[in-house]
Amino acid sequence: MTTLDDLPIRDDLRGRTPYGAPQLDVPVRLNTNENSYPVPEPVVEAIGKAVAAELRDLNRYPDRDAVALRADLAAYLGHGLTADHVWAANGSNEIQQQLLQAFGGPGRTALGFTPAYSMHPLLALGTGTRWVPARRGEDFGLTAGEAVAQVREHRPDVVFLCSPNNPTGTALDPAVVAAVLDEAPGVVIVDEAYAEFARPGTVSALAVLPGHPRLVVTRTMSKAFGFAGGRLGYLAADPAVVDAVQLVRLPYHLSALTQAAARAALAHRDALLGTVAAIMQQRDRIVAELRARGHRVADSDANFVLFAVEGDQAVAWRTLLDAGVLVRDVGLPGWLRVTAGTPTETDAFLTAMETVS
Ligand SMILES: Cc1ncc(COP(=O)(O)O)c(C=O)c1O
Repeated sequence: MTTLDDLPIRDDLRGRTPYGAPQLDVPVRLNTNENSYPVPEPVVEAIGKAVAAELRDLNRYPDRDAVALRADLAAYLGHGLTADHVWAANGSNEIQQQLLQAFGGPGRTALGFTPAYSMHPLLALGTGTRWVPARRGEDFGLTAGEAVAQVREHRPDVVFLCSPNNPTGTALDPAVVAAVLDEAPGVVIVDEAYAEFARPGTVSALAVLPGHPRLVVTRTMSKAFGFAGGRLGYLAADPAVVDAVQLVRLPYHLSALTQAAARAALAHRDALLGTVAAIMQQRDRIVAELRARGHRVADSDANFVLFAVEGDQAVAWRTLLDAGVLVRDVGLPGWLRVTAGTPTETDAFLTAMETVS
């Protein structure tokens, strides 16, 4: 049988395994920060109608520039943004891949502050961009001084900031974004996949887009909108950045069905985003309860919580799985991450945690 090793694969891909959280069939799945609430029935119907209306024309390619969808996304974001400032793709993963294709690549570097979203280095690898793992400070925090010193040392072509940060959950101080923008010689990507869950008073980097043509804010409909299966991510930036990603995007990358479904979902955003407050409540409940039980817990502005366990986190992960609750071992010694879902899921998780110290 032929194996990967027999193939003339790129040297830098040899010995690698594909990215992927376990997709296990367990009663309580709290490991990939999805929205636990199913799509409400009226929205199911609206998406169904919108998709059905496209079917006869599937003999034709879709709008390559997805202009109507981009206008809808811009209207949702506000901040005076228009379709020209927005670009959409199959998930924010694809958006970030396109950004690295345009601004990274062979001979170039991308820097991120670990621990952060584990796809950032993998997207760098896939695009031949050298990855620089910069460090976060005490308790996974990041100050402007710590960030700027590392950007100054490495002079990367692309900087990834993640706010709220995955897996720690905490939003960045806007002063960090401002300081990195001042210092970075290249593009600064602020990954705001979880922005809608941030605690009141948290400032989005969207607010500083004017006057910063090298700033890119990436967002997704996978989390707050509960549209992970629909695959729709997007960016907001200076229109010149949108011109840049159009040089590398595949033609017709966003199917007519995806565009129609996403537009219908956006038209029903009040119903879809109606779950956010309930999820934030469960998030705050998990933080408070675990702290009351003596666990160290990172502050969370997202729909998940990073918490410490005693001893080997892989053992605690297995104990929770045996109790029917799947959480995420992100490879941080002594820490696990749990998604905040429905009250029933929180009950199951907190009950299972009684067997974990
Ligand atoms: C920080 C962060 N960015 C981006 C993504 C990817 O989201 P999408 O489904 O839009 O590709 C995730 C998904 O977990 C994430 O945690």
